[in-house]
Amino acid sequence: MSIIVNNLEKMNITKIKQAKNKYKLTVITAYDALFANLFSKSADMILVGDSLNMSFAGKKDTLSASLEQMIYHTNAVCNGAKDSFVITDMPFGTYINKDEALRNCAKIYQETNASAVKIEGGEDRADIIKHLTSNSIAVMGHIGLMPQYVRSEGGYKVRGKTLEDEEQLIRDAIAVEKAGAFAIVVEGVMSEVAKRITQAVNIPTIGIGAGNQTDGQVLVWSDMLGFFEEFKPKFVRHYLNGASLVKNAVEQYRIDVQTQNFPNKEEEY
Ligand code: KIV
Ligand code: NA
Repeated sequence: MSIIVNNLEKMNITKIKQAKNKYKLTVITAYDALFANLFSKSADMILVGDSLNMSFAGKKDTLSASLEQMIYHTNAVCNGAKDSFVITDMPFGTYINKDEALRNCAKIYQETNASAVKIEGGEDRADIIKHLTSNSIAVMGHIGLMPQYVRSEGGYKVRGKTLEDEEQLIRDAIAVEKAGAFAIVVEGVMSEVAKRITQAVNIPTIGIGAGNQTDGQVLVWSDMLGFFEEFKPKFVRHYLNGASLVKNAVEQYRIDVQTQNFPNKEEEY
């Protein structure tokens, strides 16, 4: 299957589900209006990921992201990409039980134009997802390597390396689907296992570090555009050398300032 599609109209839950086995879904993160607007021309969905706590806020993991932070960035993204299907990551600690989860997701719906929320967890969170979907909240699941579990798991570990873990992941995917999720992010999973997960459910799987057999892909914008220089995970492809382009441009600006080449006659009043 290699069909090239550029959805010009806004995506919705039905169209997202129907894409499975027809064409691959393209998802990218965004945290602000400017980039969200640029990404909206090509992506099927935009995720306001709590990864913003790392790349945007400079924290060491996603755990300290707050609901207020997610609301602020979701509004920025929705303002920049008015016709996009925007998903907001629910931060760590905001869905510890059904009532808390519903209260916090309702706040996202009330205070932003997000189309859906994303929750990390499989079988262990299925009852929470079910409660949300029964109360008219569109939920995207997230299984496999789950960054909000980094401290309890003792690090970021690729999943699906044993038969036992593979079976757990398939149970997780089925539980999330049964709970009413419209799609599932499958992160950091052996590609053969991600393929089996994809075949086990009728909703689209969106992979990251999970091979090309999932129903779509998601990447963190600052990773794929090469703005994050310290470390390039194996699963990231750089579509732009963002960091060197920006550094070279600002260096040129400094040289122009120091040589009084900027501003020139046309740039002055
Ligand atoms: O926070 C995020 O950006 C994510 C994606 C990596 C799926 O959850
Ligand atoms: Na996230």
